[in-house]
Amino acid sequence: MAAEEHEPMSELLTRYPRKRCAILPALRAAQEKRGRLDDEAIAKVAERLDLTTTEVTAVASFYHMFHLEPVGQYVIDVCTSMPCGLLGGEQLVDYLRGKLGIHVGETTPDGKFTLREVECLGACDGGPVMHINDREHRNVTPERIDAILTELGYDGGEG
Ligand code: FES
Repeated sequence: MAAEEHEPMSELLTRYPRKRCAILPALRAAQEKRGRLDDEAIAKVAERLDLTTTEVTAVASFYHMFHLEPVGQYVIDVCTSMPCGLLGGEQLVDYLRGKLGIHVGETTPDGKFTLREVECLGACDGGPVMHINDREHRNVTPERIDAILTELGYDGGEG
């Protein structure tokens, strides 16, 4: 590993009593740098925290905000747990599938949007809830989806 790759991690490790306590910020930093947590990123985090790649992968795969597979520029997470589901979460997923022309788990051909269904996002009083990357959207409707996607440069699937 090059010296410059150690630097941000070294700084990060000074904030925690034990190396392994830094696993979530370390994964976040690795993902920000590489766009996702591929095998090399997982191996580097494991090496720096004195963990096995299996341990690091287990943590990374538990949290929906970490991406082990390639994703689009914008990851759209729609909550379909019961409270949001009762308020239309499933219909929003259907709307997005139709609008983007992709299935859940897929990315648009231009690499811009990835659609996912997720469990409770911890904002049930504002359902249905959707996250796009780290930004939360509450009380989402198809009309709001249209406005949000336009803001993000959605071009109607014209590529
Ligand atoms: S059920 Fe959707 S945010 Fe909790």
